[in-house]
Amino acid sequence: MKFFVDTAEIDAIKELHALGMVDGVTTNPSLIMKSGRDIKDVTKEICDLVDGPVSAETVALDAEGMIAEGRELAKIAENIAIKVPLTWAGLKACKVLTDEGRMVNVTLCFSANQALLAAKAGATFISPFIGRLDDLNLDGMELIADIREIYDNYGFQTNILAASIRSANHMSDCAKIGADVATAPPAVIKAMANHVLTDKGLDAFMADWAKTGQSIL
Ligand code: E4P
Repeated sequence: MKFFVDTAEIDAIKELHALGMVDGVTTNPSLIMKSGRDIKDVTKEICDLVDGPVSAETVALDAEGMIAEGRELAKIAENIAIKVPLTWAGLKACKVLTDEGRMVNVTLCFSANQALLAAKAGATFISPFIGRLDDLNLDGMELIADIREIYDNYGFQTNILAASIRSANHMSDCAKIGADVATAPPAVIKAMANHVLTDKGLDAFMADWAKTGQSIL
């Protein structure tokens, strides 16, 4: 499973990239707002750092507007994936932009039917939002499993990009189901390294080591 980082914070991307944890980046209008940066400037900086796909989201609500914005965003770098919402207009824009050979990430997906339509429209990535479904007492992970089954039934090439990830457990569950990519905030990716027994074991080793009076260097 590929790891994308869901952030527009350059320092966080750099830290994870140095460990080989960044296969791509996703941004959205809220993350751009949080960064306090100009969308083109910050996206260019991210694209210079990361070789994999960097999603930049359109904000028009009509297909023509999304297509124009998508073409403009694609000028930033070769590795831009244009993000469009899963509306009828977004599907139209997806078809036009993918026919032009561009990567398109169809976002705000909350049902298997929506994911089926995105695949038919040629989407490079479909972004089902797990956390926002869980927030409503629905099962976000079941949606990932349903989309996996449907795409496998028919050999769709669209990559399942599990989004709205809130916990380390979401990451391992996505990997078990077979999501192609999971995009998570930097804190969630770092939290995957945590285990209470690792901490406990390390404390015990350090206490015993201190009793030996030795040093390695
Ligand atoms: C995905 O591309 C979105 O940017 C993101 O995962 C949304 O996550 P949220 O529901 O935590 O805002």
